[in-house]
Amino acid sequence: MSTRPRTAGKLPLPELAEMKRRQDRIVMVTAYDAPAARLADAAGVELILVGDTAAMVMLGHESTVPVTLDEMIFLTRAVTRAATRPIVVGDLPFGSYQPSDAEAVASAIRMVKEGGADVVKLEGAGRMAARVNAIAESGIGVMGHVGLTPQSATKLGGFRAQGRTAAAALALYRDALELEAAGAFAIVLEALPAPVAAAITGALSVPTIGIGAGPDCDGQVLVWHDLLGLYPGGTPRFVKRYAELADEIADALGRYATDVRAGAFPEERHTYSIPDDELAEFEAGLSEQH
Ligand code: KIV
Repeated sequence: MSTRPRTAGKLPLPELAEMKRRQDRIVMVTAYDAPAARLADAAGVELILVGDTAAMVMLGHESTVPVTLDEMIFLTRAVTRAATRPIVVGDLPFGSYQPSDAEAVASAIRMVKEGGADVVKLEGAGRMAARVNAIAESGIGVMGHVGLTPQSATKLGGFRAQGRTAAAALALYRDALELEAAGAFAIVLEALPAPVAAAITGALSVPTIGIGAGPDCDGQVLVWHDLLGLYPGGTPRFVKRYAELADEIADALGRYATDVRAGAFPEERHTYSIPDDELAEFEAGLSEQH
């Protein structure tokens, strides 16, 4: 639970930059449904990301690429119904912003109007900096994302750390500065060496949110299923699992199945009664049915 004083209502977006200035760490977590959003809100996180990781952890795809804007809006709407204070970031999926600035703005507007997102996120720099600028100019806050950008994982050679040569690190540094200049209010740094992330964080006035980018970012983000041990299989090196809920769920389901098969569930206390006279009348009525 947060130890910080809680203010009522939505966290104002400029508070994130203030937190960076005060060197207060920013907490972001992904969530994809209302119960998770309620729990994240109660835990006092500043940001909830309805990430396109939903494609993998919620929808069973092998990568983030297949999830559609309609699907992301559906999930975002569930989150925004339940999250009161955290700023909800709607992730723009692959294909919903790359073609043109106009398409990027249209997708961002749908994410805000239909999904209820407070702000949006997109991946990449270069041509994508123009998309960031167009969305920001339309009045919608945009979070950038550089380093390992999963929507381009194939082009990057897989899910691997970025910026591990001087040239690549300098390119990422320039990308981050470009996104800030384009109007991003914060930038996710994913899977890059800690000293490179620290240099980028020091150079920007907007906050950086790290995932696999070391301790010197202004905030951190983890994927819900990784953090809680809900996703089967290995987790990346940068994940810390704070619970093993998949094991707990498997155990609970196993005990439920055993009880059902043994007739041990439901018990008397799980059933509804009927007054004796009504039961007698019901039974008399039954015998008249034959
Ligand atoms: O989609 C997502 O969950 C993300 C985080 C990994 C930052 O982009």
